[in-house]
Amino acid sequence: MHTRIKELENQFNSELAEVTNLKSLEELRIKYLGRKGSITALFDEFKELPKEEKPKYGQVLNRLKNSTQNSFNEKKSLLNEKEKSQKDFIDLSLPGIKTNLGTKHILTQTLDQMKSIFKVLGFSVYEGPELESDYYNFEALNFPDDHPARDMQDTFFVNKDFLLRTHTSPVQIRLMQNKKPPLRAIMPGKVFRNEAISAKSYCLFHQLEGLVVDTDVTFAELKATVIHFVKEFFGEDIKYRFRPSFFPFTEPSAEVDIWWQPKGKEGRWLEIMGCGMVDPNVLENCGIDSEKYTGYAFGMGVERTAMRKYGIDDIRTYFDNDKRFLIQF
Ligand code: PHE
Repeated sequence: MHTRIKELENQFNSELAEVTNLKSLEELRIKYLGRKGSITALFDEFKELPKEEKPKYGQVLNRLKNSTQNSFNEKKSLLNEKEKSQKDFIDLSLPGIKTNLGTKHILTQTLDQMKSIFKVLGFSVYEGPELESDYYNFEALNFPDDHPARDMQDTFFVNKDFLLRTHTSPVQIRLMQNKKPPLRAIMPGKVFRNEAISAKSYCLFHQLEGLVVDTDVTFAELKATVIHFVKEFFGEDIKYRFRPSFFPFTEPSAEVDIWWQPKGKEGRWLEIMGCGMVDPNVLENCGIDSEKYTGYAFGMGVERTAMRKYGIDDIRTYFDNDKRFLIQF
């Protein structure tokens, strides 16, 4: 029995040395020290021994049991330690997780740039409501009663009296009613039109309006202001032209075109803004003496202007919130 005990001990120790995880350690415990384990079996044999041999083997067996149990416990705490430190381990050499920083929407960037160009020329920023009355959106701006722009096809009427503004020009009226000339302001904001949605038009877009009212304001000053803006925004080499046009609230009126030359395609003139001298009727509607004061106004679509600058070919992409589009700017 002695040699078997010795063998078993050696076997246990060498198998224990191979164990690398808690699972196989538990398997080893069952194999030797479990209820049907080989060390436990020796104790069963021990019971059958003649009385005089019992003390001798009892000692050796107990020693075997204690030493294997101790080695087992030692190994177990060692493995526990190891697994715990593996869990807490942070590999500082791994590449970091990329975080996406938000950026300003291209429309906000464009508006910021427009504002800063006019700021240099002494314009302040003024804002008005998006929900307007017929009076501010049309009547005070000298639109005749039967003007087609009032048509249900263009204007979103909220009820009989209120509508979503179709342009930022009503803010001119609010400014002239609230402040005395000299006035020099730009008025950015959202406008709404009930048009068929396509690559070129959307039910919602932004405009930037400008208004200057003072004594001796001239068309020449309007032209110089617009040209300054166009060159600052599109670059010194931009080709532009003023073309006679009509708006109920300005007289004379003009539209400004820029030459658009896409790569590999035929170039053409594209309209970017409307402008003109404020109609004396409009000044009078706001309680401004049209004998003493003159003014000029201009208004442009922000989406369209940015489309030209950045070569964006579908207005809807501004509103899709597709990151693949947004991150390009
Ligand atoms: N409000 C006009 C439009 O929406 C633009 C404009 C503004 C024209 C100011 C002249 C003066 O088309």
